[in-house]
Amino acid sequence: MNQTGLGLAIIGCGSATPQEVITNDHLTSLVDTSDEWISTRTGIRSRRVISETESLSQLAHQAAIAALDMAKITPADLDLIILATSTPDDLFGSANQIQASLGATHAVAFDLTAACSGFVFGLVTAAQFMRTGVYRRVLLIGADVLSRWVDWSDRGTCILFGDGAGAVVLEQRSPDQLLGFELRSNGSQRQDLTLGYQSQPQILSPEITVQQGGYTKIFMNGKEVYKFAVQQVPEIIEKALFRANITVDQVDWLLLHQANQRILDAVSDRLKIPSSKVLSNLRHYGNTSAASIPLALDEAVRSGKVKPGDVIATAGFGAGLTWGAAIFKWG
Ligand code: ACO
Repeated sequence: MNQTGLGLAIIGCGSATPQEVITNDHLTSLVDTSDEWISTRTGIRSRRVISETESLSQLAHQAAIAALDMAKITPADLDLIILATSTPDDLFGSANQIQASLGATHAVAFDLTAACSGFVFGLVTAAQFMRTGVYRRVLLIGADVLSRWVDWSDRGTCILFGDGAGAVVLEQRSPDQLLGFELRSNGSQRQDLTLGYQSQPQILSPEITVQQGGYTKIFMNGKEVYKFAVQQVPEIIEKALFRANITVDQVDWLLLHQANQRILDAVSDRLKIPSSKVLSNLRHYGNTSAASIPLALDEAVRSGKVKPGDVIATAGFGAGLTWGAAIFKWG
């Protein structure tokens, strides 16, 4: 797949979550639900949400600092910053705010939107710049604050989401540690998971009417998204493994987007990967969208579970619909 001989390695990771915790019991005062229902159907026990004084950019900045520290790279060494998010502080993009707050004066920065697949799409995007030799050091952040857009009266969705940020530092290396990938989109099923713009006409003059709306809340057809995930995710991981020329037995860790424990179990069962190799932390954080994969990676690396040279099969999936898998070696 890689013709240039140039490659990359992930040499640092970091994460950040807000202080405020919402437990399942807290949610029972908002909607008709129970800790028992939420834990058995999703595996989630609590989630973190940002307070009035916190922001997406702050979380992303903290995660980035931790990742740079582990990688022993200074912000001035960075060539590129990609912020995978669907919930920027500024619709024009928040990556530049992070570039400025870090003091990454040589880096170009942009946002990338692919919902819960954002981290995997960002990893593959970064790899293209690195394999062509354009950029040597890249900071990739996955961060989302979906609590801003959750309908707290909808028990089908408000139980699932939490806020967080995770980051990785990529450095040009040979041999390439990104062994294979596969990405997919299916916009014809986009209506199953949306956070859409809602137009409100504003009359400027008798001849001119413009739109001055805002965004609605998250809408999800949970059953359809669930079916999509358990069907498509194993297939795309198998395709990425094939491209990496790796068998499923050679995978040390399965690192899925942390959406629902039942999805993690169904995918690992289909792939015949034992649960001891499945990384999961959604119990504490819920679904943090683009942050969930680097957040779980960071915990697993810092706890000593994931070791240098380990082969990780990761997959993101979600709104769009989008989904993607990448096989890489840690460190
Ligand atoms: N508490 C109690 N009961 C509930 C709750 C709740 N929080 N939510 C739904 N129910 C009820 C329903 O009303 C329904 O009742 P009924 O039978 O009387 O109609 C019953 O429980 C079963 O509902 P289902 O929707 O069938 O429940 P299911 O087992 O499918 O679980 C869930 C719902 C957890 C949302 C599941 O469908 C799911 O995880 N879907 C995938 C979500 C996902 O992975 N999203 C990832 C992408 S996110 C992104 O890209 C931003």
